Parts: sequence; C-alpha cells; structure tokens
Amino acid sequence: MKERTANNIHEAFVGEAKAYQRLLEFARKAEEEGFPQIAHLFRAVASSESVHSRRHFRLLESIRDTQTNMEQAFEQENAVNGVYYPKMITEAEEDGEKNAALVFTHARDVEAVHGKLYKKALENFAEEKFVEYHVCGVCGYVHENEAPDSCPVCGAPREKFFRVE
Ligand code: FE2
Ligand code: FE2
Ligand code: FE2
Repeated sequence: MKERTANNIHEAFVGEAKAYQRLLEFARKAEEEGFPQIAHLFRAVASSESVHSRRHFRLLESIRDTQTNMEQAFEQENAVNGVYYPKMITEAEEDGEKNAALVFTHARDVEAVHGKLYKKALENFAEEKFVEYHVCGVCGYVHENEAPDSCPVCGAPREKFFRVE
C-alpha cells in the first residue's frame, strides 16, 4: 500500500475512534439535560462511528497473532507510561494545570499496571487461567479478581468499580 493511503487510513481510524468517544459524552450530557431521544441519536451515530473505526483499523492489517499482539500492547504501555505521560505531566505542571497533571498521573500509573498485567499473561501464555477483572470507573485502574475497597491509584470507593465481561 502507498504511504499516503496508509496515513489516510490511520488518520480516519483515529478520527472515527475520537468521534465515538465524543458522541458518547454528548449522549450522557443530553441525558442529563433531559433529552433522551437526542441521547439515543448520539449513541446511534457513535455506534456507527465505531463500525467505521474498526473497519479502518482492519484495513491497516496491523492485527497479528495473539502473542505478537500482546507483545506489541506491552511495548505500547511502556512507551505511554515511561515517555509520553511523564512529558505531559511535566508540561501540565509547568503550565499550572493541576487537574490535567493529576489526570495524566493517574493514567500513567494505570498504564504501568496494564504493562504488568500483559507481562504476567505473557509469562503464563500457554496455561490460560481464568482471572476476573474489575475496572475503576474514575481512573481506569484494572484490578484482578475481587474489586478492592478503594482504588489504589485514585482513591475511588469500591462502588465505582465495574466488572469486565
Ligand atoms: Fe464515521
Ligand atoms: Fe494502557
Ligand atoms: Fe481509580
């Protein structure tokens, strides 16, 4: 594939993935403001955008076998928690954006946990053992088995955790 088209596909994938998240937030807001039908429309279009983003991603042909995908996912986590977020945290602090710095710090810490989870799963790749996962709805922290009493990353109480299907 020519580089230009590959770049366009990537750009389209990122754009559609962003639209999906944005529209879900718009739907939540519409719900809050008492417009359930508009919320419904936002969710419908969001679902459609997610079909687009998935379809574009598949065009990129970057999905390989599961072990390779896990290794790639692990590397990606190391990059975000070791390089990208630390830089963003420093810059947010320099700019006096305390809230952004805090949110980035939580994300960085959670990405480190993702890395550990992948590493562990890669080490036990052959014997697939069942683990329950609970995710903190505030910061995204992933906890194995029972949800903790409070989130070790952001301090949210247990009720904020949801179980992953
Ligand atoms: Fe779209
Ligand atoms: Fe991550
Ligand atoms: Fe949390």
